[in-house]
Amino acid sequence: MEKTITVLPGDGIGPEVTEAAVKVLQAIAKRYNHTFNLQYGLIGGAAIDACENPLPEETINACSQSDAILLGAVGGPKWDQNPSHLRPEKGLLAIRKHFGLYANIRPVKAIPALLEASPLKKEVAESVDLVIVRELTGGLYFAEPRKKTNDYAVDTLVYTRNEIERIVDTAFQLARSRRGKLASVDKANVLDSSKLWRQIVEEKKQGYPDVEVEHMLVDSTAMKLITKPDYFDVIVTENMFGDILSDEASVITGSLGMLPSASTREDGFGLYEPVHGSAPDIAGQNKANPAATILSTAMMLRESFQMETEAAAIEEAVFNVLNDGNFTSDLEIKGKRVLSTTEWTSKVLEEL
Ligand code: NAI
Ligand code: MG
Repeated sequence: MEKTITVLPGDGIGPEVTEAAVKVLQAIAKRYNHTFNLQYGLIGGAAIDACENPLPEETINACSQSDAILLGAVGGPKWDQNPSHLRPEKGLLAIRKHFGLYANIRPVKAIPALLEASPLKKEVAESVDLVIVRELTGGLYFAEPRKKTNDYAVDTLVYTRNEIERIVDTAFQLARSRRGKLASVDKANVLDSSKLWRQIVEEKKQGYPDVEVEHMLVDSTAMKLITKPDYFDVIVTENMFGDILSDEASVITGSLGMLPSASTREDGFGLYEPVHGSAPDIAGQNKANPAATILSTAMMLRESFQMETEAAAIEEAVFNVLNDGNFTSDLEIKGKRVLSTTEWTSKVLEEL
């Protein structure tokens, strides 16, 4: 198969982890006889420095002409004092919105070799295998009016029927392909947007009789994710609740440096990126864990290109390298080899 991928390295450790993931893509292309045409673009702080725009037109055009996007991370102290239209994260919000990438998918699965790094007890963390489906282009982060003065500030939470229906469908379909259990998370005891959300989930469930649905309030879900994370299969929720719950869930497995994500829409086009940020504290030191970005490319191959065998090969290679006791510096486990970003990536390439 021939595919075009736009790579947006971004800031901080972004360039280091995307370089590692690109090497993995090249190895996959060679082993399975595919052609991946890679083109590079600017986003975030790097784009602000180059052309005073966190998401330049050129980047949008490159992405429009590709089959998927691989992103590193954006942001850093250098741009923290910038006015809001020149903030790196503006680029990220804008690219998701521009391409209508409304479904953010974050799998969280226990990795046996890393259980010691989890803040939870081993017996709680070891059977975790859940996916959070977060609505990504609606809700409080996008709706108008929004305003801030010195004396009052307004944000608005709006959801339309169409926005809720499509994300709920995504989640039902995913639950059906897994263990058939869906938790729909809202705050329907307080918010009208949540009441509509709940109503639509009730309507939709008629079409998925094989999926068991439960409505849960976001506050009790936050507790249950820590006390009983293996209770969950698929969780679907609106933008801000999903932002918070997915960061909470991300620590269960032990390291932020391990977690991939996909932001997709119904035609399969998607943006794939690690869950972590630009880690300015370790940027440029060849210390970053590239696993989250490498696993994000596996999600890309599976979700956007239907390359299941290739995706599974990447995942297996990553887990084999960890099981052999090879770690990066973020995974503090006594008695393990600590490798640099490039050394660790070479191990994965050897596996492939
Ligand atoms: P962060 O995820 O960048 O870092 C948190 C901690 O985890 C740091 O100690 C960092 O060194 C470590 N860490 C993160 N990823 C790692 C990796 N792959 N390997 C080894 N260690 C890793 O979050 P933080 O510090 O809150 O934010 C830093 C910058 O990143 C900020 O400018 C923030 O706005 C931005 N950010 C960007 C995101 C994105 O591009 N999607 C997401 C989250 C934050
Ligand atoms: Mg977040």
